[in-house]
Amino acid sequence: MHIQPSNATLGATVTNVDLAGIADADFEAIESAWHRFAVLVFPGQHLSDEDHLAFTRRFGRLERGLKRRRTEAGLGRLSNVDRNGHVVPGEQLQARFQRGNRDWHSDSSYKRVGAKASILAAHVVPDEGGETEWADMRAAYDALDAPTKSWIEGKTAVHSYRFSHAWHGGLELLSGQELDDLPPVGHPLVRIHPATGRSSLFVGRHASHVTGEDIESSRLRLRELTAWACRGRRVWRHRWQPGDIAIWDNRCVLHRGRPWPENQPRVMARSTVAGEDPDNEWAIAETAG
Ligand code: OGA
Ligand code: MN
Repeated sequence: MHIQPSNATLGATVTNVDLAGIADADFEAIESAWHRFAVLVFPGQHLSDEDHLAFTRRFGRLERGLKRRRTEAGLGRLSNVDRNGHVVPGEQLQARFQRGNRDWHSDSSYKRVGAKASILAAHVVPDEGGETEWADMRAAYDALDAPTKSWIEGKTAVHSYRFSHAWHGGLELLSGQELDDLPPVGHPLVRIHPATGRSSLFVGRHASHVTGEDIESSRLRLRELTAWACRGRRVWRHRWQPGDIAIWDNRCVLHRGRPWPENQPRVMARSTVAGEDPDNEWAIAETAG
C-alpha cells in the first residue's frame, strides 16, 4: 500500500491496495492514515455496492438515510439521471436537492448525532467540473485569531435541516413527521476528535446561528467564519474518475461538490458511518448475518 500526502493540510491518495476484502492489517494502516489525513482517496477501486458497504462497516455502524427505515441498509445515490437513463433538468427536485451540496458542510450535522464518516464512489463523471473539495477544520481551528477563538469558546451553534434546506428545495422531500424528527440541534463550535484529541472548528451550511445570540448577526459571523476556514492550503480538491473512492471524517472536515455542465450525467454512490453514540437513533440496527 502506498500513501501519498497531498500538498494541502489534509488529504492523501492511497494506491496499491484493493478495498474489496482488505486484511485487518491493511485496515489498521488505512484507519491510522485516515486519522492523520482526515480524507483518503483510493483511485480506480471500482467497488461493487456490496464491497462499498462492507468497507463502510469496517468504520462502524451504517447511518440510515432520511427516507429509510431503521433496519434498511443501503447506499445513497447522488445522481442527476432518472430511471430511464435521462439527465434530469436542473430545476427538478432531484437536481435541486443535490445543489445544497455545493455549500460547505459536514454530513448530517443537522442530526442530534452527526455522521462519523462518508464514503463516496464515482460511477459516472462529467467531462469537466463535478469535483469534490474538502477543508481541514483542525488547521482552521489552529489558525483562528485570539478574539475569534474566545468568541466561539464554550459556545454551541444551532444546526437545522429546515434552515439549511429551505432555499434549494429539500423540504418537500420529507413528510411533516420526518421533518419533526429533525428538530434544530446544538453542537459545540469547537470539537475534540475522539481518536486524535485535536480540536477543530465545527461550522458549515447546516449551522444556522449561535445558541443564545442574535440570530442574524451570529448567522453572518458563522458564514464568514466558514468562508475564511475553507481557504488556501486547508482545501484539497479531487477530480473524479469512475471507480474512485473517497472517505472523509465529518468530525473534522467540511466538504462541498463543485458544479458541472447540467446536461452531463454524474452518478455517485454514498454510504455513511453513523456517529459513535451508543444511543444514536440514526444508526441502523442490523441483524446478524
Ligand atoms: C456528499 C456530498 C459532494 C459531491 O456525498 O455528502 O456532499 O461532490 N457530495 O458529490
Ligand atoms: Mn455531503
